Amino acid sequence: MAVDGTALVTGASAGIGKALAKQFAAGGHDVVLVARREEKLHALAETLEEDHGIETHTVVQDLSTREAPAALYEETERRDIEVDVLVNNVGIGTQGAFVDNDLDRELDQLQLNVVTPTELVHRYGRDMADRGHGGVLNVASTAAWFPGPFMAIYYASKAYMKNFSEGIAEELRTEGVTVTVLCPGPVETEFQSRAENENTPLGSGSMQDVEMVAKAGYDGLQADDTVVVTGWKYKLLTRISNVLPNRFTGRTAKNLNTPD
Ligand SMILES: NC(=O)c1ccc[n+]([C@@H]2O[C@H](COP(=O)([O-])OP(=O)(O)OC[C@H]3O[C@@H](n4cnc5c(N)ncnc54)[C@H](OP(=O)(O)O)[C@@H]3O)[C@@H](O)[C@H]2O)c1
Repeated sequence: MAVDGTALVTGASAGIGKALAKQFAAGGHDVVLVARREEKLHALAETLEEDHGIETHTVVQDLSTREAPAALYEETERRDIEVDVLVNNVGIGTQGAFVDNDLDRELDQLQLNVVTPTELVHRYGRDMADRGHGGVLNVASTAAWFPGPFMAIYYASKAYMKNFSEGIAEELRTEGVTVTVLCPGPVETEFQSRAENENTPLGSGSMQDVEMVAKAGYDGLQADDTVVVTGWKYKLLTRISNVLPNRFTGRTAKNLNTPD
C-alpha cells in the first residue's frame, strides 16, 4: 500500500532528516520541515520547491520540551495542514557514564528520542486512522538490538522506538496506516559532534551514506516493510545479535563507546 500526501519531518535541518525530506519531495510529497535552525529550514524548503515543484512549510520548534509535540500539532492545525505521513526522525545521543552525565541533557534526550515521537504518533496517528490512510516512519538505529554502556540512554531509547513501532504497526495496519522503523548503522552527520563521541571507535569508525539510508527508509515505508536495517553488515549483525546473550553484545558496545 503506497503512502502519498504531505509528510512532516522532524529534525529536517540536517543529516538523515534533511535527506529524508529530499526523498519525500522527490516522491512528489509536500513537506513540513521542523527543527530549530530557521535559516537551514528555509534554504532546504526553497531548494525542494525549485527542484520538485512541491509545496513546503517550515515550523521552527524546539522539540525537547514536554509541551513541544502538542504545540507542533496545534501549529499544523492552525495552518490547516493535513499530515499524511509522520517522519519521527529527531533524536540525539550522549556519550559517557549515565550517572556522571548532565541529568537535564539525559532527560532532554528521553523527551526528544522517546516522548516527543510517541506523542506525535498519538496525535497524528489518530487523525490518520480516522481518515483510513497514512504512514509513520520512525527513525531508530541498529543500537536498538544491544545494551549500550556509555551511551545507555541512547541505545535504550532506540530499543523503545523499534519495539513501539512494531507494536503499533500491528494495531494500525487494519486502520489503513502503515508503520516503518528505520534502523541505520552509524551515519556521518552532525550526530557525532552533538553526542561528543567522535573520540570513540563507534563515533570515528566507518559510516553509512546518508542518502542511501534515507532512500532505504522511504522505500521501506512505501513497501510497507515494518523494520528496515540499512547495509548488509548491519543486517547480519542484528540477526546474529538476536541469538547472542545481551551480556556479550553489551560488552562489545561498551568497547565501541569507550574513548580511544
Ligand atoms: N548519525 C548516526 O550515526 C545515526 C545512526 C542511527 C540512527 N540515527 C538517528 O537518526 C536521527 C537523525 O540523526 P542525525 O544523524 O541526522 O543527526 P543530526 O545530523 O544531528 O540532525 C539532527 C536533527 O535534529 C534536529 N534537532 C536536534 N535537537 C533538536 C531539538 N531540541 N528540537 C528540534 N530539532 C532538533 C537538528 O536540527 P536543529 O539543530 O536545527 O534543531 C537536526 O535537524 C536520530 O534519531 C538519530 O538517533 C543516527
